[in-house]
Amino acid sequence: MEDFMFPNLRYSIKKKYPSTISDDGWGMDNTHVMILFNLLLAYPYKKVLEVGSHRGFSTTAFIEAINMGCTFEVHLCDTNFEKSVYDICEGYKQISLHNMRSVDYLATAEHIDFALLDGSHIAEDVENEFEYLSMNDIQSVLLHDTCTQTLPQNKDKPWFDGPLFLKNKLMASPNWLCVEDAFPRKGELTERGLFFATQNISIYNKANKIFKTFKPD
Ligand SMILES: C[S@@+](CC[C@H](N)C(=O)[O-])C[C@H]1O[C@@H](n2cnc3c(N)ncnc32)[C@H](O)[C@@H]1O
Repeated sequence: MEDFMFPNLRYSIKKKYPSTISDDGWGMDNTHVMILFNLLLAYPYKKVLEVGSHRGFSTTAFIEAINMGCTFEVHLCDTNFEKSVYDICEGYKQISLHNMRSVDYLATAEHIDFALLDGSHIAEDVENEFEYLSMNDIQSVLLHDTCTQTLPQNKDKPWFDGPLFLKNKLMASPNWLCVEDAFPRKGELTERGLFFATQNISIYNKANKIFKTFKPD
């Protein structure tokens, strides 16, 4: 761990988890994974979920949170986990992998406190994921790619709008407190958007600090 303190804790994915890195454009950006890492440390969650692990780039934040002492159960759900995910999760008894569609997993999953949604971006799928999570009183959700569709470079490209739809729905609700990072950063694609929403005011206050800390100068 480098010399950083909460809400600005960091680790090197490049040094610790090189097998999770790819240039296929599917992984979240380093800055957004560090925001996720700090969010996981901001509250004593009991059960957390990642939908969409791919090679495990964002999954590293859950593992590092466990290494920092978090005792939550981690559930990973993907229809096609890459081998690197199995490798980095090996030996962690509190991590479970669910190789199936998110809605099939969520249909029988019980209460989850925190969910990162970065699997299917199709509106109907994201909507269904949120419906199931809501039925079990989800308190905090983190959505990736909430701005991708609206970027000028994607103007005439087809893009699924699930994350944007859910973001708009949460922002329109008085029950959810929201914060987003979509700043452009050199060498990253953080303008794609990372959006956090919670129903808990104390989590929101901490999340706000985290997002502010990672704001570019
Ligand atoms: C954008 S990638 C996730 C990237 C990952 N969060 C990271 O930062 O490296 C999306 C992943 O979601 C998975 N996926 C797509 N549709 C899904 C669904 N309906 N249920 C579960 N996983 C799904 C894909 O197999 C893929 O691995």
